[in-house]
Amino acid sequence: MGNYIDLENKVSLSNSCIWKLQQDYFKKLGKSAWEGQVPFYVTSNTKFSFSIANIVFNYLLELISKNKVNIDEPLYILEFGSGLAKFGFHFMTKLAELKDTHNLSHIQTPYILTDLPEENMRFWESNKQLKPFLDNKQCDFAKINIENFSNIETVKHNFIIDNNTIKNPLIVLCNYLIDSVPHDCFKISNNQINEVLVSTQIKEDYKNKTIDHLNQLKFEFSFKEINNDHYEDPILNDILNNYKETIYDSHILIPTSGIKILKTILNKFSKNTLLVVSDKGWSNKKFIDQQGEPHIAFHGSFSLMVNFDTLKQYTESIGGSSVITSTGLSGLKTGLFHLSENLNLFSKTITSFNSYLNATTDDFLTIKNSMLANIDSLSANVILSLLKYSEWDEKIFSSVSKRLEKVLPNEPMNIKLEFINYLPNIEKNIFEVNLNNSITYLDLGNIYYSLAEYKKAKEMFNYYNERNSTDWASFHNLGLALFYLREYDQAMSTFKTALNLKADSEISQEWVDYIKTEYLEVNSK
Ligand SMILES: C[S@@+](CC[C@H](N)C(=O)[O-])C[C@H]1O[C@@H](n2cnc3c(N)ncnc32)[C@H](O)[C@@H]1O
Repeated sequence: MGNYIDLENKVSLSNSCIWKLQQDYFKKLGKSAWEGQVPFYVTSNTKFSFSIANIVFNYLLELISKNKVNIDEPLYILEFGSGLAKFGFHFMTKLAELKDTHNLSHIQTPYILTDLPEENMRFWESNKQLKPFLDNKQCDFAKINIENFSNIETVKHNFIIDNNTIKNPLIVLCNYLIDSVPHDCFKISNNQINEVLVSTQIKEDYKNKTIDHLNQLKFEFSFKEINNDHYEDPILNDILNNYKETIYDSHILIPTSGIKILKTILNKFSKNTLLVVSDKGWSNKKFIDQQGEPHIAFHGSFSLMVNFDTLKQYTESIGGSSVITSTGLSGLKTGLFHLSENLNLFSKTITSFNSYLNATTDDFLTIKNSMLANIDSLSANVILSLLKYSEWDEKIFSSVSKRLEKVLPNEPMNIKLEFINYLPNIEKNIFEVNLNNSITYLDLGNIYYSLAEYKKAKEMFNYYNERNSTDWASFHNLGLALFYLREYDQAMSTFKTALNLKADSEISQEWVDYIKTEYLEVNSK
């Protein structure tokens, strides 16, 4: 097991060294943090990303109808802690489509991806799906530490974003960020309040002050009495003192860095800002009572539950307003925080927020998981509904594709036509992180093949083979598609490539022999 050594003793949670270790973790791992360690599907699937894009679009429509947009100036959308930028890609795709269908494409809404690790930026720059957005200035990126920033200068198109240059309302998005940056913690009981201090230890073999697995950390908590003016910020003190009077018995987390983001936007950017926060957390006071010691959850990185109630109270104290998804379950919540406007006056935005998010992402994931657990009993019809409901999510498609390959050939023509009609949506939603992601092209090729759509099958197999030139099955299946397209020479050379990859493949050899004797030699006579 190894012994543990002390890293720090009895410090405020927000001052703990664990946050710096977390930043170092993200910097060290770059995009590989998301390859099997840090979860991101919940905030990056198409259903969630499109929902947020729809809400933001409705807000944009309302800003326009209230004459609050200067259409000659950009309306910036900033995302903090963008990670892989898969959410950003889906968001931009949906927003562009909505603007197009409403003849609003002339309104510039540059989407600014931001994060700490430079390697994430190198990945964004190299990513095929982000390229069109980056090239036509619909997207750009910048390095930002949310703990300390004052203006934003983007890397590719040199947008400078600060309170002098912002001429339109600002939109800021944070997904799974506030749960990963500093919080404080207080224990309240019998109208007494104590700060919860943390002592941190780490396994002795920890070297060079960076670590690959943050779960090498171990914590102990202790308590310290505090005064009514614990913070320099009187608004935070009011919130804390109010908790002291109204919370029965609980450990209360205060998202100090979340509040910092809010204050930086207010003081250095624009109070005319809509902040959209999605995180795991508690949405109102009822749920923050009766909580035990802070649970630091490890999943590659680590995270804490976000106290959305503090963000709400803070926003209201500075003259803004908010709305938060209301479920008591501990999963993902989304809050809209407007720093200066009353969101009740944005009825379309609120209606879309309620309809898109009150049956939450968690509900969608529960339904999806229970369906996928019974994949072998699902008919093509049911899979079609699941895919539609998911907004053509690439990952769900990959999970159902083997089943589809099996059942589709025996389905009636109308079901096949539905798939043929809708499958291009999956292709549009592909976001390639590494070669494993490109497997969706292979899955699509196989499904098109099973639907006898050989031209599309050929296109998909070719995409996949361009990315991964060592997969026998993909070359063999491409050979079949080419054969049915009567491209015999091409089919022959493709089966030969398959044979080069798997010399003992009898089936590929049979096709080579068959095409040679039945088609190529016949034609050459
Ligand atoms: C849990 S990941 C979430 C990534 C992405 N938003 C998602 O939903 O999958 C947290 C992200 O916050 C970033 N991050 C952590 N501390 C940060 C800081 N101080 N300033 C800016 N970004 C930070 C990390 O680099 C990482 O991309």
